[in-house]
Amino acid sequence: QKQGVLKNKHVVISAGGTIEPIDPVRYISNRSSGKMGYALAKAAAEQGAQVTLVSASTTLPDPIGIKTIHIQSAQDLSKQMIATLPTADVIIMAAAVSDYRVGEPAVNKLKKQASGELTLTLVENPDILAQLGAMKKEQYLVGFAAETQNLLAYAQTKLVKKNADMLIANDVSKHQVGFGYDTNQVTILTKDQEPEVLPLQDKLSIARKIMQKISEVIN
Ligand code: PMT
Repeated sequence: QKQGVLKNKHVVISAGGTIEPIDPVRYISNRSSGKMGYALAKAAAEQGAQVTLVSASTTLPDPIGIKTIHIQSAQDLSKQMIATLPTADVIIMAAAVSDYRVGEPAVNKLKKQASGELTLTLVENPDILAQLGAMKKEQYLVGFAAETQNLLAYAQTKLVKKNADMLIANDVSKHQVGFGYDTNQVTILTKDQEPEVLPLQDKLSIARKIMQKISEVIN
């Protein structure tokens, strides 16, 4: 029997960068390494939670003892997160989701164009955090905001617009913060508490503090 402040809680975490195919060999993605989401999964398991990790692109190995589901595109991530919603107590969207995808990926590898130009038409992906925000009942919903300017104002807007309960804001224009690094620096926003600034530290200690804070508000 597991012990810890998240005992008997099902925590679902998305991680990594989504992959949107252009053709069978090329894709659009982003700089997410998955480190933040995987650290959250580890921290939640340490606190006794049952964890489901929904992983988009990463080179990290599956964490031992944590149920890990691999997906690629934003549409697949959306389906998976919606499927886990009914049994989740806490949902954390740490994945970096492509806001757009190629409308009609080519069936065969694209050849060089005689014109010297290639135009890709992108169509909007679902906003998964907003979908979950609209569907949730008792679940505690946590989003991230990766910004390069107006960090707290944009994060505050996302918290309200997407109906999240907590928003973790990271200023990804800073050195050692956000995409790819082993470290992060975040501000935690909730609807009814003062913003809490966590100084620069490794992603696992940030993750432990986030999980601690979540356990305090849900228990
Ligand atoms: O993976 P690492 O290299 O460790 O880097 C960590 C990180 C920088 C990726 C992580 O800390 C982070 O900030 N993740 C969210 C990145 C992001 O997509 O931020 P955003 O501000 O574009 O999106 C806001 C929120 O909405 C996020 O919770 C995101 O998961 C979600 N979203 C965004 C777009 C979309 N179409 N659907 C979504 O659900």
